[in-house]
Parts: sequence; structure tokens; C-alpha cells
Amino acid sequence: MTETRQSIHGQWSSRWAFILAATGSAVGLGNIWKFPYITGENGGGAFVLIYLLCIAVVGIPVMMSEIMLGRRGKQSPIHTMRTLAQEERGSSSWQIVGWSGVLAGFLILSFYSVIAGWALSYVVSAVSGSFSGISADQSSDLFGSLVSNPTVQLSWHTLFMVMTMFVVARGVRDGLEKAIRLLMPALLVLLLILVGYAMNSGGFMQGFHFLFDADFSKVTTEGVLTALGHAFFTLSLGMGAIMVYGAYLPDDVSITRVAFTVAIADTAVALLAGMAIFPIVFANGLEPGAGPGLIFQTLPVAFGAMPGGIIFGTLFFLLLVFAAWSSAISIIEPVVAWLVEDRGWSRKRASISAGGVTWVLGIATILSFNVWSEVKWFDKTIFDLLDYLTANIMLPLGGLLIALFAGWVMNQNHSRGELGMEEGLYQRWLLLIRYVTPVAIGLVFLNAIDLI
Ligand code: PHE
Repeated sequence: MTETRQSIHGQWSSRWAFILAATGSAVGLGNIWKFPYITGENGGGAFVLIYLLCIAVVGIPVMMSEIMLGRRGKQSPIHTMRTLAQEERGSSSWQIVGWSGVLAGFLILSFYSVIAGWALSYVVSAVSGSFSGISADQSSDLFGSLVSNPTVQLSWHTLFMVMTMFVVARGVRDGLEKAIRLLMPALLVLLLILVGYAMNSGGFMQGFHFLFDADFSKVTTEGVLTALGHAFFTLSLGMGAIMVYGAYLPDDVSITRVAFTVAIADTAVALLAGMAIFPIVFANGLEPGAGPGLIFQTLPVAFGAMPGGIIFGTLFFLLLVFAAWSSAISIIEPVVAWLVEDRGWSRKRASISAGGVTWVLGIATILSFNVWSEVKWFDKTIFDLLDYLTANIMLPLGGLLIALFAGWVMNQNHSRGELGMEEGLYQRWLLLIRYVTPVAIGLVFLNAIDLI
């Protein structure tokens, strides 16, 4: 039965195509925009250490499970979970993993696109020379004038959504694969140039100590939950994005190898982004806990002062847009694949509909930075709430269910066959996914209950 199952959406052309696509999904705003600012808000080194631990004991095992379930089911996460639950004689309620992923996808993309819109707008600022000789205060003002303006943000958000749905509509090979090939390596080179600049900025050691000296007295309960949530967010886990990409993975590819490659590449990019940004923060007397505007306030100062800053600045924000783009298409792919399978819609129609809903939802995020900035629940703006609800709650919960399904419901002969690794390694994965991952997620949640 499994051997004959085929994805109706097509297949990646090779192992490398999958690695690029999954890395494209993982590496995005999460690494370059979110990781530095939440690290800044949570006091640095100790937070980074907890995040790295979460990647190792939760992220990698769950990523292997998601790819495995996807490749075995070969459909959208909703249908994959339904088919596999039937096959394993489990409850049909396991579909909830797919449904919550669909909901998370809409919510995440709605704010993701707004932030990607900021990056688009910064491409224009960079190319027009607005950063030349800019001071830290002027840079903060520039950012302030962007986020206080709903119409400008709406235009960029609209453009980014159109770009995303355009690629999604074209499908796996034509759309997704081609868009990613060149961009990842280019982004890496640009980040290395920035780190090189940061090394000479005068704040490198301070930035380095901030990132890597662990002072656990600075970590709060919420910080631990944020670190766990970010491990899921940055690896695109817990909502079906990696599962649906796994559905397009050829059967002969080693899941373990690709999971490790993607996780290591993603972590390296985040750490490089941190090493580029914090030295500039400290060298210019900026505030590491500045929040979501952190990279938009700090990097222009660096570009404005360095030789060739216009070119590097433009390239950097352009590549940030591309990184966000290749993530955005994966955030909405589970929804689109489901619409195509279940409703029989064309990819084009499915993309336009899903994109339309997301676009409307995005308006709430835009307004939360200006007109609605005082609208708060639990002391959080709409944007903060969306981010908290998805990254800190929905993704870890989705990951927990995926771990339980892969570890306890699935027949071990099935998972062993699908993962295709040597017995010793398989037993280690099983131990992690059955006990360590669920207990870790459970403990962080239990610990966080008193936050409410
Ligand atoms: N991993 C992406 C990033 O770090 C965001 C993402 C989240 C993508 C969830 C897919 C699913 O930017």
C-alpha cells in the first residue's frame, strides 16, 4: 500500500532540492529578525544555550518525525495524518495535527508578511542612500516612521503576499525549487561580510560575550517557553510545513541526513546573525532589548558607515526578503495542498484564496503597531499575541502530538523502515521521541502555566 502511494503534487528532483527547500523554509525572518531580538529581550547567553538545547533534544527528533510522516503519507498534513492514523489503527482525531497546522499557517503568515514588508521597504531605503552616515537615533526615527504608517505597510504587505502566492501557485518544481537555488548561498556570504564588519566595529567582544556567556539569573519562565517556541518556529516545525515538504521527498533519501543538515544550517545562520548584530548594537550604544525593530534600527547604522554600504545594505535586505519569501511559501503550502486535494481546486485558485484570507488577517498586525497599539490583552499587542499564540503554544503543542504519534502510535517496523538508519541510531531516536521530547515540552508547559 505505502509503496504505491504517490504525491499528486509532484516530487523534489533530488535530495539536494529537498535540502535547499527545507533550508529555505527554515532560514527566514526567524533567524535574522526574530532570533536576535528575542535573545536581546531575554538577556543573551543563557537564553541562547536553552534554545540550542531545544534544537538538539526536541527540534531534530521532531524534524525527523515530520519528514517521516510526510513522506509516508504523501499528502497534505490533514490527509497524511488521517491516512496514517487509519493505517496504524489510531483514532481519526489525529487529523487535528493537520488542522491546527492550517490555522497556525494562516496566523503566522499574516504577521510574517508584514515584517517581510518592512524588509522590502528597507531595500528601497538602502538603494536610495537613506542610510548614508545615519546615526542610531536617526535610524530609530526612520523605523518609527515606517511602523507608524499603516498605508505604507499595507502596500508592502500586499506586494509580499502577491509574490508569495505567485510562487505557490506554480507548484513544487517550477515555483518552489527554482526560487531557492541561488539565494541561500548568497545570504550566507552577505552575513559573513556583516560579521566581518562587526568584528571591527569596536563592540565585537561585548557582543560575543552577550551571546555566549550564560547567566541563568537572567532567564525567566517565559524566556524558557520562548526558547522552546523559537526552536519550533525557526525549524518550521509543529505545523506541517516540513511534513508537506516531506511528502514531496523521494523514497530513497536518508531522512536523518537531511534533518541534520537543515538543522545545522539553520542554527549557523541564526548564530551568525547574532554575531553580526550585537556588536553593532553595543558599539553604537543601542538597546539589545529594543524588540521587533532591533535589526531595522541597528543594521542601517552599520551600512551607513561602511564603504560600499549602499551595495551591501541593498543586497542584505534583498536577501532577507528572499529568505522570508522561501519561508512564506512553506507556511501556506499545507493549506494549499489540502485545498487542492480536498476541494479539487487548481493550485492557482487555492493560492489566491489562501493568500486573500492571510492578507486580510495581516491588517490586524499592521494596525497593532500604530492605530491599535493600545489594544492589548495580557499586556500584549495583537502582533505580540499572534506571535505568542503560534510560536509559543501552537507549534510546541503540534510538535508534542507529532512526537507522540511517531513514537507511540506508529508501528516500529514502519518508522524503522521509513527512517532507514542503523539500529543503534534508530533506538536513540525512539528514546528521544518517546520520552525526552514529550517530557521536555510537557515540563516547559507545566512550568509556564503560572504565567496565565
Ligand atoms: N522557519 C521560518 C523562519 O525562521 C518560519 C516558519 C515557521 C516557516 C513555521 C514555516 C513554518 O523564518
